[in-house]
Amino acid sequence: MDVLCRAIGAAFFLSHDLRRDVELLLLLQNRIQIRLLGERLRHLNPDERSTAALLKRALERLAEDEVESTPGIFVRTGDLPSLLDRLFQVGAHPLMLHEEGTPIESFEIPIDPAFFLSDHVEFTAEDEGILADLPRLSLGKRALHTSQCVTLVHYLLDRREEESHSDLVLCHKVWGEPKALLIKGLLEDFGIPVNLTGHVPAGILPMVVNGLAEVRITVRERDLERAKQIIADYFEQPTND
Ligand SMILES: C[S@@+](CC[C@H](N)C(=O)[O-])C[C@H]1O[C@@H](n2cnc3c(N)ncnc32)[C@H](O)[C@@H]1O
Repeated sequence: MDVLCRAIGAAFFLSHDLRRDVELLLLLQNRIQIRLLGERLRHLNPDERSTAALLKRALERLAEDEVESTPGIFVRTGDLPSLLDRLFQVGAHPLMLHEEGTPIESFEIPIDPAFFLSDHVEFTAEDEGILADLPRLSLGKRALHTSQCVTLVHYLLDRREEESHSDLVLCHKVWGEPKALLIKGLLEDFGIPVNLTGHVPAGILPMVVNGLAEVRITVRERDLERAKQIIADYFEQPTND
C-alpha cells in the first residue's frame, strides 16, 4: 500500500496542484485494475493515509464492469493482458521501465507514452513474457524506487514539453555548409541539439558567394551560452548579429 500511495503521489502531485493530464493504472495481484484519471480526480491529498483510504474504498466497490468509486478513481477486475490491450485501444504507446533497458536519453519518447513499472519486487517471468515486445528504457543502472522513476519520467516529459514551446535561438552564422556541419557535429558531441538553416541576408544577393551560402546555427535557449563557448574554444568568436 505504501508503494502504491507513493506512486500515486509522484504521478499526480505538483506543489498545490494536480497533474490533470495523467492517468495511472494500478494492477493488483494481476486481477484488480484501479484507474486514476487526473482530469476527474477529487479528494486526493498529499498524506498517504487518505490516499490509502481512497484505494480501500475502490477495493470495496470492485466489480467486473468498471465502477467509479470516488471522483476520478475507477475499479474493475482485469489482468495484465487486458490492461495492455486497453492501452493499445486508446492509442497509447506502452513502454517498459527497466534498469537494463536502453538509456532513456537516447530514445525518442512517443506521444502519449504509457510506462510500465513494477512495485518493490521485480516483474514476474510471466509479466516479462507479456511485456516482452515493449521497448525497455532505463533511467540508469541503479535500482530506484517506483515513485522515484515516476518523478524522473515527469521531469523528462516536462522538459520535452517546455522545449517544444520554446523557439530555437540564433547562436552563430557561417558561410558554407561544410563548416556549419563541422560545428553542428562538434556541438552534438557535447550533447547540444543543433538546427541549421540556409539564410539570405536582407539586401545581399545573390545568396551564393563563391559557392558558399550563409548558414544559421540555432540551438535551444538553455544551451546558447555553452554552445557559444564551445564554438569560441574550437573555432572562432560566434557572431549572431
Ligand atoms: C523497486 S524497482 C524493482 C526492484 C528492483 N529491481 C530491485 O532490485 O530492488 C521497481 C521498478 O522501478 C523501475 N526501475 C527501478 N529502477 C530503474 C531504473 N534505473 N531504470 C528504469 N526503471 C527502473 C522498474 O520498472 C522496476 O521494475
